[in-house]
Amino acid sequence: MSNKPIGIFDSGVGGTSIFKEIHELLPYENFIYLADSKNAPYGDKPKEDIVRFSKKNTELLLNKGCKLIVVACNTATTNAISFLRETYNVPFIGIEPAIKPAALKTKSKAVGILATKGTLSSQLFHKTTDLYASNIKVVEQIGEGIVPLIEAGELESDEMRTLLETYLKPMIAQNIDYLVLGCTHYPYLIPILSKILPEGVKIIDSGLAVAKQTQAVLSNNSLLNMDKKAPSIKLYSNGNSEILDAILNERFNTSYLDF
Ligand code: SIN
Repeated sequence: MSNKPIGIFDSGVGGTSIFKEIHELLPYENFIYLADSKNAPYGDKPKEDIVRFSKKNTELLLNKGCKLIVVACNTATTNAISFLRETYNVPFIGIEPAIKPAALKTKSKAVGILATKGTLSSQLFHKTTDLYASNIKVVEQIGEGIVPLIEAGELESDEMRTLLETYLKPMIAQNIDYLVLGCTHYPYLIPILSKILPEGVKIIDSGLAVAKQTQAVLSNNSLLNMDKKAPSIKLYSNGNSEILDAILNERFNTSYLDF
């Protein structure tokens, strides 16, 4: 057992959607969350930059004593997790778009995926799609411009609505019945996405699956925290920590940190 914190990082505030799922499943675990908002979005940056940011975030979390690291960013997972696993001696949990469950459940044989350029062009994404979704239509859409709006706290602005309507239109035309959210920022858009999508189209994200995977890996490595005490939860942003507060409804204590 270990009462060391779980470390989580993302290109900004989006990975808090993953943090909340893990915290709900493992309420006694301690956490340190890093929002690398200064470098957001990762999704349109070259792989070398994404690896460099991921390395910097990981080393900061390891210096703070984290026992396991959740790469709560699809783009960082697809581009950097192999490097991180080869380089550092702690377990890493990554985020992959939930293509498999969508492909298994679709009745219309068409699913949409909204993700960053970095995720959609990665080898890992293509491998998963070839493996699980080769017999259905996968309508891919790069969510260009979405992450900066979320980082600015604009979840329901006119600009956001126009962007999403444009991105979803081809998917709706292809009769999708599942929309896969391939970026950890996007679960914050579920209220507006539900208003734009036709009734019956289901939205899938990876949060709960990642929380269960984190629990399993901690358990298999005898790293679960058995202290039934109120946890220590520290969230740091190198951008505007007020946005982090707003997105978390001020439920947690957030601070600015220069990293
Ligand atoms: C981004 O920083 O572009 C989005 C992060 C993600 O892919 O989850």
